[in-house]
Amino acid sequence: MNFELETLDLSAASKEKCDALIVLITSSFKPGKDALSVLVAQALKAGDLENKAGKALLLYRPTGLACVRAVLVNGGDGSANEVSKAVKTAVLAVKAGNVKKLVICFATLPQAALLRAAVTAVAEASYVFTTTKSKPEGRVIQRVVMGVSHPAGLKPVFDRAVAAVAGIEFAKEWANRPANYATPALLAGAARSLAKLPNIKCEVLGPKQVKKLGMGSFMAVAQGSEEPLRFIVLRYDGALKSEAPTVLVGKGITFDSGGISIKPAADMDEMKFDMSGAASVLGVFKVLAELKPAINVIGLIPACENLLDGRSIKPGDVVTSMSGQTIEILNTDAEGRLVLCDALTYAERFKPRAVVDIATLTGACVVALGAVRSGLFSANDELAAALMSAGETSLDLCWRLPLDDDYAEGLKTDFADVANVAGRAGGAITAAKFLQRFTAKFPWAHLDIAGTAWKSGKAKGATGRPVALLLEYLLTSAK
Ligand code: BES
Ligand code: MN
Ligand code: ZN
Repeated sequence: MNFELETLDLSAASKEKCDALIVLITSSFKPGKDALSVLVAQALKAGDLENKAGKALLLYRPTGLACVRAVLVNGGDGSANEVSKAVKTAVLAVKAGNVKKLVICFATLPQAALLRAAVTAVAEASYVFTTTKSKPEGRVIQRVVMGVSHPAGLKPVFDRAVAAVAGIEFAKEWANRPANYATPALLAGAARSLAKLPNIKCEVLGPKQVKKLGMGSFMAVAQGSEEPLRFIVLRYDGALKSEAPTVLVGKGITFDSGGISIKPAADMDEMKFDMSGAASVLGVFKVLAELKPAINVIGLIPACENLLDGRSIKPGDVVTSMSGQTIEILNTDAEGRLVLCDALTYAERFKPRAVVDIATLTGACVVALGAVRSGLFSANDELAAALMSAGETSLDLCWRLPLDDDYAEGLKTDFADVANVAGRAGGAITAAKFLQRFTAKFPWAHLDIAGTAWKSGKAKGATGRPVALLLEYLLTSAK
């Protein structure tokens, strides 16, 4: 899918030949004398286009317009969130048709945020996963023209939004793949393929090297599977070597059965998404290569399966992490923190300016925040604020949860330095408290994306979150 930015007012839009024309109207809409304005004004007056955010009117071969289909859609107050919803509604309305060229026309002067929201929304509404179909029917929409009346200054924002879409879709692709199409080795292959892009390097460690590093906790999770683990190290070098990097750590459990503490059968297929954190890191690197910001970024991905087997870890087993801390594994389904803790210790060697881990870590976070906001944890107010605001700007929201030491009480055990689970209460926070033990050497934040990385139900699939948030955070740090 190709995005283009064009100068297009309403009268030019009415003459634009295309398979579908989406006309976005906000409450500040002032009709002109052109055919499109007249149409919109009539539809509003007649009540056929409700003056309410998200309401749309679909027209086929409307007289006076050069398009085959037109969707008049109400973007409400013109906030980025409402514009995003309106664009998705409109794209879904014409998606079933044979729409190859789509034109989106902003009836009111778009601000940068709206253009970005619209680009992201078109991509999301038209996305199709085809990798495992025998007769793939991909995306029908080929060209998307974003028509604005005054494009001055919008080009950089537009380019960034288009680049971000590529990263979001890369993350979706890998997260959507079933576990047999996204093994740790295949995930490492995806990372290696990124190293063909400018300024990116990739190193992949296997079981032997990981053992040598002393990653006893990560290895313990992997030992119940026939698929050998991979530890993926990506680097993006956009600034001087002396510039401290930001490290992104992505949970890469390519399938989470729960292990001996096995999960219920219902919806267990969704645990193929348990490497969404890793996928988001891959997506971010793809965009960095494209936008080439003046920063350094490291990506770390501990990748393995969590399965059951004669060699699997058992509840009560004690393992020694790379940090030297011993861990009593009371629940083998709390495996994310076990692979992340060793990756966090590994991150120390980069003397990072900040480390952000991204993980589908806890069902408790889904209960707490649902699918709207990711959980954000950090003892560093500045880092937390930067991530929070990156989320607001990119419409990839998160919400800060506490890290009081009292939450760590339940992790105490007589059999090791720490247990891998506490009670059910505050489960997202106790998981974060576990991770925090491995982050003494750098500013650290944790994003629990268990509720936001994918959608359940009929429209099941990866969302590509939080690629947009991470990118916004990194690009802002470059300024
Ligand atoms: N991958 C899951 C977390 C998860 C659960 C993500 C549901 C999305 C939806 C994680 O490895 C896990 O199993 N966590 C356990 C922790 C518990 C054993 C303390 C959980 O949340 O149930
Ligand atoms: Mn688990
Ligand atoms: Zn998991």
